[in-house]
Amino acid sequence: MFVTFEGLDGSGKTTQAELLRARLEADGREVVIAREPGGTELGEELRRLVLHGGEMTPWAEALLYAAARAELVAEVVAPALARSADVILDRYLDSSVVYQGIGRGLGLDEVLELNLLAVGGLLPDRTFVLALDPALSGARVGGRPDRIERAAESFHARVAAGYERLAELHPERILVLDATLAREVLTERIHDELIPHGLRRPR
Ligand code: TYD
Repeated sequence: MFVTFEGLDGSGKTTQAELLRARLEADGREVVIAREPGGTELGEELRRLVLHGGEMTPWAEALLYAAARAELVAEVVAPALARSADVILDRYLDSSVVYQGIGRGLGLDEVLELNLLAVGGLLPDRTFVLALDPALSGARVGGRPDRIERAAESFHARVAAGYERLAELHPERILVLDATLAREVLTERIHDELIPHGLRRPR
């Protein structure tokens, strides 16, 4: 089973990815978890460049994310799925479609096409978008913002709307959940959604 988490920064997707991992491991399943961009040696170097390097053009940004993703799929995701492990990713190609395609204005179809080429067409079984008001996202980020987090508020508003649009386009794969729900409530909801994909019902 291949599951991805999406949402604005501060939406709690990293926490939910970890909680799902714990649930699946408690069921005795092998789970591989990774974050994007990153998860491989090259991917972590690209992460540093794209998040903490200097300014770059939108297409350069999209290509760096796609390069990190190509490496992660080939090195980590595909081998794990091939041995029937579960894979949980904290962001995947929907992030590029929304942040670069819609946020930066490169085009939803164009960025999707680039990424499908990069990953050999591999799509998740299920994608959870943790939806959060962009104003709350800014407030939850705190600390030292990275290059993407520093983008204008209008950029983050386009990203939030982009996720809604994507979910409408792919209702069979993408589910939008309210990120402000209690952590445990969200975890239960996510677990229940995965039952049709082979998860055991809780006793
Ligand atoms: P993330 O690791 O979720 O941020 P953090 O560790 O700060 O919570 O993602 C890093 C940033 O990269 C985030 O602002 C979203 C952005 N991003 C894109 O713009 N496109 C992409 O394809 C991906 C994977 C991330």
